[in-house]
Order: sequence, then C-alpha cells, then structure tokens
Amino acid sequence: MSILTVLEFPDKRLRTKAKKVTVFDKKISTLVDDMFETMYDFKGVGLAATQINVHQRVIVIDVSEEKNAPLCLINPEIIETQGTEESEEGCLSVPGFFEMVTRAQKVKIKALDKHGESFELEADELLSVCIQHEVDHLEGKLFVDYISAFKRNRIKAKLDKIHKLEAKKR
Ligand code: NI
Repeated sequence: MSILTVLEFPDKRLRTKAKKVTVFDKKISTLVDDMFETMYDFKGVGLAATQINVHQRVIVIDVSEEKNAPLCLINPEIIETQGTEESEEGCLSVPGFFEMVTRAQKVKIKALDKHGESFELEADELLSVCIQHEVDHLEGKLFVDYISAFKRNRIKAKLDKIHKLEAKKR
C-alpha cells in the first residue's frame, strides 16, 4: 500500500469530472486500499479519487471514532434527499479551513462496492454530509464553492502563499 499525494485548492485538476468505473480488477482494489491508507494517514473522514488525481468515481469514507468502519463507494448516486442542515466542513484539499455549508439532512444512495456488487444505503448526520461532500468532488466541486466569493478568494490567496513557500523549500 502507499500514501498518495492529495491535490490542494486551487489546483485545476480538482475541477475534473470523474468517469464511471467499468472494470473491477486488481487495479481498482489497489486504488481503494491506497485511498484508505492515505485518508487514515491524513486523519480525514473521506477521500475521493479526484483528490489524488485519479479521475474515476471512487470514494472512501470512515466517520467512526475508532476508524474501524471503512466504507467504499464506487459510481455512487444520490437517489433521494430529505431536509436541509448546516454544518461545518473541512477538506483534505483545503487544509486548515473550515466553513459552514448547507446540505441535505438525509440521503439515500446506491453504489457499487469494490467487487462491483450493488448496494443501497441511507445516511444522516456526519455520514450524510461526508457522502454529499465526496460525491461533489467527483463532479469537480469543492465545499468552498458554497461559501461567498470573498471568503473563497481569501482562502485561495492564503493557500497560494503557502504553496509558493513550500515550492521554494524544495
Ligand atoms: Ni474534500
């Protein structure tokens, strides 16, 4: 297994729309394993393949405190939503920034597991937020798209500065 590099906002590659997975082979299962390892290493609760510059519809999630409830969603589709709720979100691709975002309170999804088996899942609370956040990544969308342009540009400027400093160190 390996820990992968996570793209950071405003990297344009995060705006790529991911393609559906059609072949369930060793490559997909290695990708899923590497994504879990990367997500746990960065102490995230979710990671979409888009964030590691792989533009396939693959998501890994674990919202449990003990980090023992791995959930892999391939080609996920939100088929029902209910209510709205606002909560604070962060993202491994927007490190260090947290903002309030309004999303559906509950979602029902269908997806495939890493073997290509179809399943349905209903989620609320953090899992619901996380699923909606990660599905957005597959569409090239980020949580900062939901906040004001003023706030988004301020985050962009701060991250640009950090990225320039990091590039100098290399
Ligand atoms: Ni994210």
